[in-house]
Amino acid sequence: AVTAAPAEPTATVTNIAHRGASAYAPENTLDAVRLGAEMQADLVEIDVQRTKDEKLVVIHDTTLSRTTDVEQKFPARAPWRVSDFTLEEIRTLDAGSWKDPRYTGAVVPTFSEVLDELERTASGLLLEAKAPELYPGIAERIAGELQQRPQWMQPDPMAQHLVVQSFNWDFIRHFHGLLPSVQVGVLGAPTTDQLAEVATYSNQVNPHHSAATPEYVAAVHEHGMRINPYTVNDPALMRTLIANRVDGIISDRPDVLREEIRNA
Ligand code: G3P
Ligand code: CA
Repeated sequence: AVTAAPAEPTATVTNIAHRGASAYAPENTLDAVRLGAEMQADLVEIDVQRTKDEKLVVIHDTTLSRTTDVEQKFPARAPWRVSDFTLEEIRTLDAGSWKDPRYTGAVVPTFSEVLDELERTASGLLLEAKAPELYPGIAERIAGELQQRPQWMQPDPMAQHLVVQSFNWDFIRHFHGLLPSVQVGVLGAPTTDQLAEVATYSNQVNPHHSAATPEYVAAVHEHGMRINPYTVNDPALMRTLIANRVDGIISDRPDVLREEIRNA
């Protein structure tokens, strides 16, 4: 059997803006994506789901309630699932004012619009397929949209310009089969006994920060994978994780993280 070479220690830590720069702008909107890029995040993380009419949209929850005014606009449509609304209906919703009145009028973006936005910046993309088990065929749909855009399909697997991740590890295994040149990551923390199997299809393990002990980070590296814990907003915790030799950190505050990386 071939054993994967340990990953090289990372020269610098990847700065990943969680749901965009979501501490400051409404999560998963174009404003948050743009701000993450302006704060020089290496990657902007977004959550991708699918509408009733099979359009890919960028939103975290599987319902529209928390981050839009859907309950006011469509009171009879409980439980307000993303999958029960057309894109045209979703585009009537305000996805910004829940965060701050100055973002009133922000909309739930399509995946394509986020790609358009990122293509105007130096930042790459950490795409989370959120609850893909609710959306049969979404892996093929995401792969198809990416393949139409050559700049996201660079052949260099170490480019780290595009990473696809999910809590659904079967989805990641399947996506890896569809587009083997694209880096992928499992969300969560496989046991050390599971790491060898995960490493047969995944390039990254992205756990809650509480799992990223020095020993666990070393075990992930021994299996040739990178580790980018989430969601880290406290500077002291950022410093601890950098000392633990993580490869990247997912944060709502990419500006704060940038300073900690610079000073490490
Ligand atoms: O990128 C990691 C993180 O986004 C996973 O958790 O709930 O924020 O999607 P969640
Ligand atoms: Ca996410």
